[in-house]
Amino acid sequence: MNFSGDDPKDKPMTMHVDALAPAEQAIENGAFRSIMRTMVNGVTVITTSHEGHVHGMTATAFSSVSAEPPTVLIVLNRSTRTHPLVSASRHFVVNLLSQDQVEIGNRFAGKLDDQFAGVPHTLNEEGVPLIDGVVATLECETVSEHTVGTHTIFIGRVLRGSRSQTMPLVYHDGSYKAVASQ
Ligand SMILES: Cc1cc2nc3c(=O)[nH]c(=O)nc-3n(C[C@H](O)[C@H](O)[C@H](O)COP(=O)(O)O)c2cc1C
Repeated sequence: MNFSGDDPKDKPMTMHVDALAPAEQAIENGAFRSIMRTMVNGVTVITTSHEGHVHGMTATAFSSVSAEPPTVLIVLNRSTRTHPLVSASRHFVVNLLSQDQVEIGNRFAGKLDDQFAGVPHTLNEEGVPLIDGVVATLECETVSEHTVGTHTIFIGRVLRGSRSQTMPLVYHDGSYKAVASQ
């Protein structure tokens, strides 16, 4: 593990976790992916804005971290177009999709240029899109970045949030599903 960054006051801390265990001791990749497909996750669209350019991507790698202070994390592949924008702007919004928003989930998993065309939304104080009709929004400022393998964990302090009474869209074993009561 090593730390890098010029002045921690100027930008979020970046931590690189290159090798938690030697590769030969790690589980086989296919088995790992198969096990992770058994997880049930809410479906989010992570939106951001950098120098007037708004962007978003579908992501399930999202979690609450702490309530005091209110903190969440998202995990983005460094190959995504969203990654450099979140990293540069230091602001992102977690839009937790409603069960009737499969189309939006598919849309933001693709590589469209006109991502927000026909997607009702407003912009927050930082110019980041808040998608209409979602279950909840969390407006975040990045406090640290952690590089792990192909991905970066962005830790975000939650500045503002909202919720509705609609039911969430979930993703399990490679497909979108709705939540059912027992
Ligand atoms: C249900 C679902 C969940 C996803 N979750 C993530 C995720 O948590 N992190 C990630 O980096 N990519 C995730 N992806 C893939 C991105 O949505 C996809 O690579 C997208 O094209 C990135 O867009 P961009 O290049 O415009 O940023 C997910 C895709 C789907 C369909």
